[in-house]
Amino acid sequence: MKIKSTEMVVSAVNKDQYPNEGLPEIALVGRSNVGKSSTINSLLNRKSFARVSQTPGKTRTINFYRINKEFYFVDLPGYGYAKVSKTEQAQWGKIMERYLKDRKELCNIFLLVDIRHEPTEQDKQMYEWIKYFGYECTVIATKSDKISKGNYQKHFSIIRKKLGLSDEKIIPISSLKKTGIEELWEEIIDIYTK
Ligand code: GTP
Ligand code: MG
Repeated sequence: MKIKSTEMVVSAVNKDQYPNEGLPEIALVGRSNVGKSSTINSLLNRKSFARVSQTPGKTRTINFYRINKEFYFVDLPGYGYAKVSKTEQAQWGKIMERYLKDRKELCNIFLLVDIRHEPTEQDKQMYEWIKYFGYECTVIATKSDKISKGNYQKHFSIIRKKLGLSDEKIIPISSLKKTGIEELWEEIIDIYTK
């Protein structure tokens, strides 16, 4: 994929701030710190275009990144960070629901999980939420550099089992080693040109 332009268009909280040109959107969701922003940067071959947080749970807005004036990556706030207050959690829920409830531009949601760990209850809820709202979902296993390739399948089946996936594929990626990025691009092109 040739990247001709990348624009950070808006960091939105409310619906009226979302872009309205009707371009297709691919959203990234997952636990805080799972590597959502890093994944966007790797895909775009940029160091710090999407902000990578030192403090987990920092992304509290919906960030819309326009790529080649053709589609958007949508970086959603992460969940599951222990030090976030109840009020902030409720706020997170509202921000997410407002976006997910009825977004016709949204053609696929990337659910990111850490390849090393069994998905959490919240990951499972998120997956069910995505299905409930009727969106397509692609599961991405991040930080694949943390385990050896020989162990991928073992970890995939743990992820599969917890989320209740059947034969949907899981794409392993490493933003550190830049592996899996090509495969993910193929998926993306498939999605937004459909
Ligand atoms: P929030 O915005 O807080 O929800 O986090 P996020 O999901 O956007 O995660 P982010 O991209 O900010 O990355 C979190 C931390 O994980 C950073 O310290 C990254 O350097 C690290 N990280 C991200 N991807 C990888 C990876 O593929 N491999 C390794 N080893 N570390 C990674
Ligand atoms: Mg982030």
